[in-house]
Amino acid sequence: MEIPFEPGTLPAKKSKRGSKTNAAGYLGAESFQECHADKYDTFIHTAHHQTSRLASLQEITGPLNGERSQMRTLHPEIRFEMLERDDTAFQRVSFFDWQFEVPMQLIMGSSKMAETYLYWHGEKLFQLNCTYLTEPDAWINSPGYLDGDAAYARPIISGCLDCHSTYVELKKEPNLYATESLILGISCERCHGPGQQHVDYHRANPNEKKSEYMVVPSKLSREREMDVCGQCHMGNKAPKAAGAFQFRPGDRIEEHYELLEDHDESANSVHASNQIGRLALSACFQESEMACVQCHNPHKNERGMTEVFSQRCLKCHQENQCGMHEKLGPKLRENCIDCHMPKRATDKLRVETSVGQIFPPLRDHHIRVDQKATENYLNSN
Ligand code: HEC
Ligand code: HEC
Ligand code: HEC
Ligand code: HEC
Ligand code: HEC
Ligand code: HEC
Repeated sequence: MEIPFEPGTLPAKKSKRGSKTNAAGYLGAESFQECHADKYDTFIHTAHHQTSRLASLQEITGPLNGERSQMRTLHPEIRFEMLERDDTAFQRVSFFDWQFEVPMQLIMGSSKMAETYLYWHGEKLFQLNCTYLTEPDAWINSPGYLDGDAAYARPIISGCLDCHSTYVELKKEPNLYATESLILGISCERCHGPGQQHVDYHRANPNEKKSEYMVVPSKLSREREMDVCGQCHMGNKAPKAAGAFQFRPGDRIEEHYELLEDHDESANSVHASNQIGRLALSACFQESEMACVQCHNPHKNERGMTEVFSQRCLKCHQENQCGMHEKLGPKLRENCIDCHMPKRATDKLRVETSVGQIFPPLRDHHIRVDQKATENYLNSN
């Protein structure tokens, strides 16, 4: 059991995005703004960039102070309240007439679905009790916390940061971090490789137009290209003995990760879907050279742009290949997605709340003819 939070202990200094250089050569996304403004300016609106950040009052989505900032639990005497004071947000737990407050220092989750909050305790990171869930817009017990418990002692393991941040230097003892080295957000470098050498080289050789020391995933073999996304999008897996943050674009995923679940079915982990495994079951994938970037622009937030995604289907397909072509006419090309890649909830993607379990639905990347989804689509349009 980890040491619980001791009120009065000062947390370590806040880390910035891309603050310092580190042995691994990661810089953070800001370092690429100067030369790649076209990519950077749109990239900062992506879920990748926003998935971890400092918990300033502007960034916290969950309601603070007032009626909606309360969270009741099954235990009638344990209550939580989220509040702000002097520009800082806290979670306050009350137990009978005793209470204490824990500061919210970092946010994990872009708030597309949820935000959970972390605080430093020396060189350890802990998750706070209350998580904000975007749908249904409420405070819930953080996944893994028992309802009616107020432990405040759930350590953030390195695997968590491996998928939700760019880099942090690991200390010898497990789950201790060199706090100042933490680079928040998933930067360019998790897909392109650490940037230090690239930046140093091009500063020293300003007339060199050919990019050096930078991997472009789509120029790798399809397997290695998929492995870049597979660092975080293939469901449940754990870093091997050498630890988190060892993978570099171009490496094989198995060199650095142990797969923890059977990957035939969707093999979702606690909260992440397995897009790699699901897509691989599709005829589209098996009978073409498709990878993730055939549909996703990694430098732009295109969430909800169904027609844009549908145009990408039509790069390989004709409208008249689809059996619904005559029935739907020109409407067909607005939305191939809801019929062929419906959102699905599975019991492996489960969040416990004081008002019951919630199953956030995610897109099924097994692309196929789906009669049930077709019925749903026709009924609601
Ligand atoms: C989620 C992974 C990912 C992230 C994050 C990412 N990229 Fe990319 N980037 C790619 C992929 C994949 C390609 C190839 C796209 C293609 O071929 O369609 C690419 C292509 C590029 C290219 C064009 C390279 C060429 O030679 O064609 C540049 C430049 C680039 N990215 C810069 C950036 C910068 C700068 C950032 C951060 C602000 C960034 N990328 C973030 C995955 C990513
Ligand atoms: C270092 C881990 C990591 C890597 C590498 C990574 N992703 Fe992600 N990706 C995430 C996480 C975490 C989220 C969820 C972020 C959130 O909402 O807080 C995400 C979200 C996404 C989303 C949803 C965006 C939205 O707004 O709905 C897409 C699409 C996506 N990733 C595609 C890719 C593709 C394609 C690649 C490879 C080119 C890739 N990712 C590489 C971790 C990663
Ligand atoms: C294997 C990579 C991986 C690990 C490990 C992981 N996550 Fe995630 N997480 C994701 C991905 C990917 C998503 C986006 C959901 C999806 O599309 O599958 C996500 C989504 C989330 C979200 C919701 C973000 C949103 O969309 O608003 C939160 C919050 C979150 N993760 C927190 C955590 C915490 C806390 C841990 C550690 C206990 C953790 N994650 C471990 C990959 C990971
Ligand atoms: C890179 C090219 C490519 C892209 C992009 C693509 N597909 Fe395909 N798809 C194929 C190929 C190749 C096949 C197999 C041959 C065929 O049926 O035409 C296929 C098969 C299918 C099938 C039949 C599945 C089965 O089990 O028989 C459906 C349905 C389908 N695609 C829908 C889509 C949708 C919807 C999109 C966009 C979300 C999409 N495809 C994007 C290449 C692609
Ligand atoms: C044939 C097109 C296609 C391909 C290929 C594809 N995706 Fe997607 N993906 C989509 C569509 C469409 C959505 C829904 C986007 C939306 O509505 O915002 C989506 C959503 C997502 C999301 C957001 C989670 C969710 O369920 O809302 C993630 C993460 C993601 N894709 C990752 C990947 C990864 C990783 C790969 C490669 C293994 C990949 N995708 C390949 C079409 C594709
Ligand atoms: C209303 C739901 C719906 C929409 C919208 C839709 N489809 Fe379909 N699609 C179906 C159904 C159902 C079938 C099977 C029809 C049959 O067997 O007669 C099918 C069949 C297909 C097939 C042939 C599968 C095979 O057996 O070879 C392809 C390819 C396809 N659709 C692609 C698309 C593309 C691309 C779009 C968007 C431009 C699209 N569909 C939009 C429901 C839909």
